[in-house]
Amino acid sequence: MAFPISRPRRLRQSDAWRRLARETRLTRDDFIYPLFLVPGARVRHPVESMPGISQLSVDECALEAKRVAGLGVAAVILFSAPAQKDSRASAFLDPNGLVPLAVKAIKAACPSLVVWADVCLCSATDHGHCGHVLPSGAIDNDSSVETLAQVALNYARAGVDAVAPSDMMDGRVLAIRQLLDRNGYASTPIVSYAAKYASAFYGPFREAADSAPAFGDRRSYQMDPANAREALREVQLDVEEGADMVMVKPAGPYLDVIRRVRERVDVPVVAYQVSGEYSLIKAASARGWIDERAAALETLTGIRRAGADLVITYFAPDVCEWLRQ
Ligand code: PBG
Repeated sequence: MAFPISRPRRLRQSDAWRRLARETRLTRDDFIYPLFLVPGARVRHPVESMPGISQLSVDECALEAKRVAGLGVAAVILFSAPAQKDSRASAFLDPNGLVPLAVKAIKAACPSLVVWADVCLCSATDHGHCGHVLPSGAIDNDSSVETLAQVALNYARAGVDAVAPSDMMDGRVLAIRQLLDRNGYASTPIVSYAAKYASAFYGPFREAADSAPAFGDRRSYQMDPANAREALREVQLDVEEGADMVMVKPAGPYLDVIRRVRERVDVPVVAYQVSGEYSLIKAASARGWIDERAAALETLTGIRRAGADLVITYFAPDVCEWLRQ
């Protein structure tokens, strides 16, 4: 039946009707907030390229976690930029490192908040790559995987609720699963950054996490932005290796990938709205070129509509506040 019988505008004529006809909803259960740890005490160092985001010492991180939990944020994901960097990322194997201490401090401050930890090597290596570098300059997959599993075990021992490997080495989910299981952490979930692209949108994050590669780029391990079928393969492998949730990252430029992943697997799909996606909105709204709140909510609605069950976003506390009103 066509016009004049069909008039889709009938269901758009008021807020009340739009509310009834709405297909995608944002709730405070949907968002995960990234926190950046640095050494020291009482440190709140603003990240210039990410207005509203600061690098935090462990004590401040616990306060911030408590604040955002109070706003209704369901989970946080921890990143850290240790002072000591070496070729093997030893700082991440320290049981008294930034992430283990922060997990304990957050759990003491607000026991009900879910705490994930990013597992990667780049912000603890002197070369800034996500794996071990061979003399040739190539990134060595299998030795990197061993270290990544040790890092995951270190965080699991500290009581983290989930480990989230973001390195994109082959086989790391299985290696982490096996090491965790052998050490009594069979209940610690793995949230895998399964389809992570070599993206220009990570720029601001590398300031926050102090993780820019000292030479070359990440294109030999992160995915080519042109590929979608390959994302399905990556996701499939990670699910087979034991990933409890899979992630697509970045989110906004990869909505088609989110949709296809959602249709392919039954585990929850997480999308990461990354630093560059956040900073673009922040920068344009600071100039009065865009309405920050409307733009942020629209992008997050689009990411959920594409099929993401959960979204990691720097807007998480703001959105939770907006959704209360
Ligand atoms: C570490 C990591 C990165 C991000 C999350 N984990 C950066 C990178 O791969 O270079 C990016 C997050 C963001 O931009 O918000 N491997």
